[in-house]
Amino acid sequence: MDGLNRNTLKDGAIRDHFPILDREVHGHKLVFLDSAASAQKPREVLDAMNDCLTGHYANVHRGLHQLSEEATDAYENTRAKVAGLINAPSPDEVVFTSGATMALNLIARSWGGSFIGEGDEILISVADHHANIVPWQMIAAEKGAKLIASPVNDDGSVSLEAITGLINEKTKVVSLPHVSNVLGTVFPVEQIADAAHAAGAIMIVDGCQGLVHMPVDVQDLGCDFYVFSGHKLYGPNGIGVLWGKMEILKTMPPFLGGGDMIDRVTIDYSTYADPPQRFEAGTPPIVETIGLGAAIDFVQSIGMDAIREHEQDLLSYAHQRLSAVEGLKLIGTAPGKSGVVSFVMDCAHPHDIATIVDRKGIAVRAGHHCAQPLMDFMGISSTARASVGIYTTREEFDALGDALETVRKIFG
Ligand code: ALA
Repeated sequence: MDGLNRNTLKDGAIRDHFPILDREVHGHKLVFLDSAASAQKPREVLDAMNDCLTGHYANVHRGLHQLSEEATDAYENTRAKVAGLINAPSPDEVVFTSGATMALNLIARSWGGSFIGEGDEILISVADHHANIVPWQMIAAEKGAKLIASPVNDDGSVSLEAITGLINEKTKVVSLPHVSNVLGTVFPVEQIADAAHAAGAIMIVDGCQGLVHMPVDVQDLGCDFYVFSGHKLYGPNGIGVLWGKMEILKTMPPFLGGGDMIDRVTIDYSTYADPPQRFEAGTPPIVETIGLGAAIDFVQSIGMDAIREHEQDLLSYAHQRLSAVEGLKLIGTAPGKSGVVSFVMDCAHPHDIATIVDRKGIAVRAGHHCAQPLMDFMGISSTARASVGIYTTREEFDALGDALETVRKIFG
């Protein structure tokens, strides 16, 4: 994309691409530190979506007319862009879903529904998002399988031995986050995938908080499935990705039935299309998919390695600045962590913290972050969480640090 490169991050010009960052909140300049929940959208994504709606919009895969062909080309181009982003062997291994939650439910229902049986084990982590817990609980209950959660250490790090020690001949699925949305811990996916495969299990990675912060190569990771949501990658919500190895996708029955996923339909029976169409019933989120394509162009023009370097520097500054606030405890300090800074304060509840800093224009998330088992495991009810995006600056963490000093004065 024109004018975008790794220096766009260094000179702060990246912020000019995000119109929303110019607004004020409660009379203060917006400080948006909630990108882990949903990231803001650059003009390039908004323009691509608007361009589709105003110039090329029609349903995809259905019409023989010009507009449908143009929309189909743009839609299918995104599939190729996703494959390029994650180094998938083929765009046909990329299935579009409404988000990561739908992708994980699809795998649990379709693969799990076919291949998990009584007494089998499904291994997740206590640090998983509910989207990678509840679908497995549901299928485990239905099949008489057992759901097992690997632990985390006090600092939020994970032990490879503790995880692989839970894999055995009964394990059918290992499904873990690439990066914890609360702790920022990066899971050692490659080694875990090796152990899973040695036991005959499949390896699924919830990449929502991983792919947005670092280069991802699914072939190097060695996993069987990798899922993520578009809206955390500076794209729109309503579009997500399920990447899966073709030889596995081919063994899986459809998740939803309807138009576009079939080969032949009679009143008595239907036969199904090959993947990825088999898993894309109904009119897909056309404009959102095209927006995701623009988001991929956007981050790739800057470079995922440059984004990783820039954000790691910010994260270590954030740790340093927030640690200086009296009575503040960081939750999750594993070496090499990524993306988020969770914390608690001895003087105030996370909800009070979030409310007070919001009055200063600062957006952070507070609560259990859809990770209640992790909260239980760590013996806390909730945290406040600031997260890093490509537009985040050191000054914004200074502003948060100052606002937290105010919280201390009010409650302390
Ligand atoms: N999973 C998102 C988060 O961590 C919503 O905030």
